[in-house]
Formats: sequence, C-alpha cells, structure tokens
Amino acid sequence: MRLGYDEAGEGRVLLLVHGFPIDRRIWAHQVAGLSDVRRVVAVDLRGRGKSPAPAEGGWTIDDHADDLAETLDALDVQTADLGGISMGGYIAFAFYRRYPERVSSLILISTRATPDPPEYQTGRVTTAERARRYGTRALAGSMLPNLLAEGAPEPVQQQVLAMFDAVPGETSAADSLAMKDRADSTPMLASIAVPALVIEGAGEQLLPAGSARSLADAIPGARLVSIPNAGHFAPVENPDAVNGAIRGFLDLR
Ligand code: MLT
Repeated sequence: MRLGYDEAGEGRVLLLVHGFPIDRRIWAHQVAGLSDVRRVVAVDLRGRGKSPAPAEGGWTIDDHADDLAETLDALDVQTADLGGISMGGYIAFAFYRRYPERVSSLILISTRATPDPPEYQTGRVTTAERARRYGTRALAGSMLPNLLAEGAPEPVQQQVLAMFDAVPGETSAADSLAMKDRADSTPMLASIAVPALVIEGAGEQLLPAGSARSLADAIPGARLVSIPNAGHFAPVENPDAVNGAIRGFLDLR
C-alpha cells in the first residue's frame, strides 16, 4: 500500500509516522521547520487523510511498517531517518525489526518498546468498539486530558480534535486492535545499531513515569531529551523545542 504524505525540503529523507487516533498533521511544524536539513515526509497511515484503506479492514502494526517500506520504494528511497510518535514509535520498532538496513537513525517520541499488559488489552477492545460505533471523536473525552500537558492552549486542543474528527471510526478500531497485539520490542533494543534519539514531554501523562528513561537506557548510545511545556503530543505543544532536539541530533550525522 502506497501512503499519501506531506513533504518539504530535499536530500536525505526524514520519514515521520504519526500516532493514534490522528494523522500526518501532528508533524506540520516539523515538515515546515526541518525542511532545510532533510526532505521531510510525513505520511498518513492507511485508512485516513491522503491514504487509502485496504478493502479487507483489520490490520497489524507490521502491516503499517510494510506500508512505509512500499511508500519508500515508490519514492525511490532506500534509507531514511525514521521518526515515530507513540503508535508511530511502535511502527518504527516494527520497521526496524523488518528492514534494519533501511533505517539511518531512529527518533522515538512519547513511545515505548513494551507490549500492552493484559489489563490494557481489554481496554483496547472497548476503545475499538466505541470508535466503530460512535466515531473517533467519541474517544476524545477520555483521551484528550492525557494527551496534552496541563494548561495546553485552546488552539492546540482544537488542532488535536480536528485530527480526531478526520479519522474514520473503523480506522481507529483497527489501529486499537493492532496496538493490542503488537510485539514486545524490548528484546531488540540492545541490538539497535543506528543512532537513536528519545524524546519525552516533561508533562507526559499517558505513559508510565520513567518510560523514556528506560527506553533510552536500553538502546546503545541513545540520547534522551525532555521537552518543557509539553505532554504526549510534544510536536504540536512545543514545536520549537522538538525541532531543536531533532535538528541537533540530525546535525551530528
Ligand atoms: C498514541 O498516541 O499513539 C497512543 O495513545 C498510543 C497508545 O495508546 O498506546
């Protein structure tokens, strides 16, 4: 499946993968702000925005990773710096597992390598049912307070809600079930052989405390940056700091 995307810049590709239940626009500030150092490509994962949905419905995190590979093929790009936020990070791990030779570096934002614990898996099924029945927007009431740092400005909240509104309920249902069944990526971390940057929002409320630290500690040579005035969706909450962290990391390479 070839994905649709926004892009800016030229040269080496920085491929950016969004989280759940949103779309490529989480990266709007990175596409605009990093285009002088990379060809920034922010994809829509299958079933939303500029990307088609498969006829058969349901998919896995590995399917998302394969879509990235096909999209790079279509762009005639062999390797890329790969950035993922949250679910996009789960997909980045799957991509690295399947196509390590295609990854020049990893940028892991608000994400974790661990699988869902059993009690969380039940919640994924409920989330999928709610999304399918009432639409993605129906997830906002319970999710939004955990996605943004306390006191997030109204325009940022509206931006996130606009993304919720744009994702079909069936797509969010399929993503929720895909996350429920995702592989444990922790055994792979010690063998990651490309430079890695781990970014967390200092006001993260969704992931357990200390997740970013343990992720960075488990990847050889990884750098950890904490973003002030930001929670789980740091790229829209504090874009300048996120862009500064990514730029500093990419400049070294
Ligand atoms: C995301 O932001 O992609 C999701 O909240 C991740 C998750 O639910 O595990």
